[in-house]
Amino acid sequence: MSGHGTPTPMTSHKSGPLSGTAEVPGDKSISHRSLILGAMAVGETRISGLLEGEDVLDTAKAMRAFGAEVTDHGNGEWRVYGVGVGGFAEPENVIDCGNSGTGVRLIMGAMATCPITATFTGDASLNKRPMARVTDPLALFGAQAVGRSGGRLPMTIVGAADPVPVHYVVPVPSAQVKSAVLLAGLNAPGKTVVIEHEATRDHTERMLAGFGAEISSEQTNEGRVITLTGQPELRPQTIAVPRDPSSAAFPVCAAIITPGSDVLVPNIGLNPTRAGLFTTLREMGADLNYENEREEGGEPVADLRARFSPDLKGIEVPPERAASMIDEYPVLSVVASFAKGQTVMRGVKELRVKESDRIEAMASGLRAGGVEVEDGPDWWIVHGRGHGNVPGGQVCASHLDHRIAMSFMVMGMATQAPVSVDDGSPIATSFPIFEPLMSSLGADIRQG
Ligand code: S3P
Repeated sequence: MSGHGTPTPMTSHKSGPLSGTAEVPGDKSISHRSLILGAMAVGETRISGLLEGEDVLDTAKAMRAFGAEVTDHGNGEWRVYGVGVGGFAEPENVIDCGNSGTGVRLIMGAMATCPITATFTGDASLNKRPMARVTDPLALFGAQAVGRSGGRLPMTIVGAADPVPVHYVVPVPSAQVKSAVLLAGLNAPGKTVVIEHEATRDHTERMLAGFGAEISSEQTNEGRVITLTGQPELRPQTIAVPRDPSSAAFPVCAAIITPGSDVLVPNIGLNPTRAGLFTTLREMGADLNYENEREEGGEPVADLRARFSPDLKGIEVPPERAASMIDEYPVLSVVASFAKGQTVMRGVKELRVKESDRIEAMASGLRAGGVEVEDGPDWWIVHGRGHGNVPGGQVCASHLDHRIAMSFMVMGMATQAPVSVDDGSPIATSFPIFEPLMSSLGADIRQG
């Protein structure tokens, strides 16, 4: 788990041209879901390409604590022997979800309609994050939650013994909240309906359908209406986890800002609910192409080809695109620093409640590196300095946030002076091979 050991300072020095192939790890969102749904199916689910980052490993441990058999067969091959919907056993000890908001929120949903009690905790970052957004709808099913002030972890959930299905309009654009409600709805008799005004990543819906649940979604004037019929028997699946577009973002953005670069990032899932960054980069004038476009396992996939792009221009990112690139704003703000003109990002309040307050963390690190940033409650503006004109030379706090640490490492590849982070250890939560992979492309990242 990150944030519990000694901090690992890292420095990114100016890089020569980045070139080669970047094979990024499996998708974090899909990895969590394959373990959790595998644990709720009856029989053996086989998973390949699982992300073996700390967040997902914590979810694997949690599924064992709830009674599933979860085994590692090497090279990203895992098997989960599930206990069936409603079959979770009561864990003997506290469930530690480490740094992972997705892990804890989805697992709370999955156990909230079982007649068991579980206590959840996490690292210093996770224990600051809001959980009422999940426990409020779980209470409608009949579950009870007792946590620290402000709805923070550690928190105990007493699952509903006689759950009832719910009708819930998700008040914030959050796939975690939507997914928690759907997973809870699995063990409630009858139809659970979830409505979201803005479409967020739909991996839970797609995977539930794959596991044989009766689930449908339709676009109405109210938003996306998702209807799930409770108490199905989930059939075990064979799942090939696609590579993570949110991890692909780092080598792609690094190539775009680093002179002479030409990098191929193969097999990236381009589910429209996830691909907003790539559209935005292309609008900024980035030399980014989709090669070999195809469909795999019902998801659009392509190889991304990113080349150095000297004439980037700042743009206004459409707020309605925010959900499809919510984890990519930190690294986008780095690219925006190397563009000419302002990049305006609005409708992004959710960035303030991620692993860190990502607007604050990026704005202060960028300012310390000579980039002008303005920010408000749900918006920020990066004043780009143009290629070759970003000073750098700063030490940034990563705030136990993997994406903040990786974003500043990308920045240092193209600034005049090196960029450091106080602690790079959180990178292991989502992208454990980040440093060797970027080094293999030509980056100069050093410890210390
Ligand atoms: C995720 C949803 C998003 C995202 C997170 C992964 C998921 O969070 O930021 O990294 O797998 O459902 P929110 O649901 O809070 O927006």
